[in-house]
Amino acid sequence: MKEIRRSARLANVSYAVRGPLVAAADELIAQGVDVLKLNIGNPAAFGYSTSHSVIEAMSRRLDGAQAYSHSRGLPEAREAALAYCRSKGIKDITANDVYIGNGASELIAVCLNALMADGDEILIPSPDYPLWTASANFTGGKAVHYRCDESSDWMPDLADIESKITDRTRAITIINPNNPTGALYSEDMLLRIADIARRHGLIVFCDEIYDRLLMPGEKHTSLASLVDDLLVITFNGLSKSHQICGFRSGWMCISGDRSGAADYIAGINVLLSMRLCPNVPAQFALIEALKDPFECKPQFMPGGRTYEQIVTTAETINSIPGMSVKQARGAFYMFPRIDAKRFNITDDNKFCMDFLKEKHVLVVAGTGFNWPDPDHFRVVCLPEVSVLKEAMERLGDFLQTYRQ
Ligand SMILES: Cc1ncc(COP(=O)(O)O)c(C=O)c1O
Repeated sequence: MKEIRRSARLANVSYAVRGPLVAAADELIAQGVDVLKLNIGNPAAFGYSTSHSVIEAMSRRLDGAQAYSHSRGLPEAREAALAYCRSKGIKDITANDVYIGNGASELIAVCLNALMADGDEILIPSPDYPLWTASANFTGGKAVHYRCDESSDWMPDLADIESKITDRTRAITIINPNNPTGALYSEDMLLRIADIARRHGLIVFCDEIYDRLLMPGEKHTSLASLVDDLLVITFNGLSKSHQICGFRSGWMCISGDRSGAADYIAGINVLLSMRLCPNVPAQFALIEALKDPFECKPQFMPGGRTYEQIVTTAETINSIPGMSVKQARGAFYMFPRIDAKRFNITDDNKFCMDFLKEKHVLVVAGTGFNWPDPDHFRVVCLPEVSVLKEAMERLGDFLQTYRQ
């Protein structure tokens, strides 16, 4: 048979969270090995479950979920998401500015595909949630990474952002709270990013899927609530706050200055029409879930499951010689630093693979999150405390002798 090759558009597209390390872990599991999987932010896979009312509302309305809905989503679902966006302080929006998606992922891809032409650039954080880079590169445009600074709690490096803007830059993405670092941005930081966007005519994409997953005392601010003279698209969803990744339920809100964006928004609507509609049962779940958007809050209180998992993981990592980590302020990920010099690590994927094969713990290498150096990995703090502690203790053991 003639060789069938993938499209050239896939040249710079990858998704490490489900990549070769995971395939290797699955092979070990097939051989009967008990692998501790710390690679994916999928709460239900770790025994989390949404409230009964959400499941019940969806089940009760299944009979009425057989037809396509409007391609932007059911009016009732859009009203529910609109009320949430307004509760975050986003002004001057109606249900027509709100779109329901099969997860935030679908809406991110749609917004990038509707925007980017060959050679166009978008600023994306490094490290990032790699869907952003993959989706941007898949359009034929280019993800350009700006550095987030570990020494200042993983805040975006504003000078680096400025230095990377060209006449092809169309937009900037912020992920707040951040996957993979757990960083949370202050109002001042958001205003500074908005100022850069204003001066260079950039769209701002705000990925806020973790905005309800906050450590005690933390407050999330939506950038869209602070500005009305920029085009801002805010993405959110229920995968993490309600532990229903599998339902595929998200939304986005287009706010701010839409005066010059009619053609872009029309393009978004064309792409959304082509996917026909978001799945309807999950929209019924969304309507119910957004009656209690902060369902996940108790998990993040002292004594709550996710809080304890984050604190224990950070403490255990910080007790390992040659390792350090900033404790997450939001979301449930952390991005620990390994002293690459001390362990002579030049290839972080090899490091993760060696750790997996020897100690049966799966983490994703930092370069998979578009971090340039081989000195980080991401840990997901969703397994029970005992599992996380065990995994990090195995890491300590492993590093006692590991050298590349
Ligand atoms: C930052 C970020 N954005 C978006 C998504 C995708 O969310 P959804 O399940 O709504 O597609 C994830 C999933 O891990 C994420 O971490």
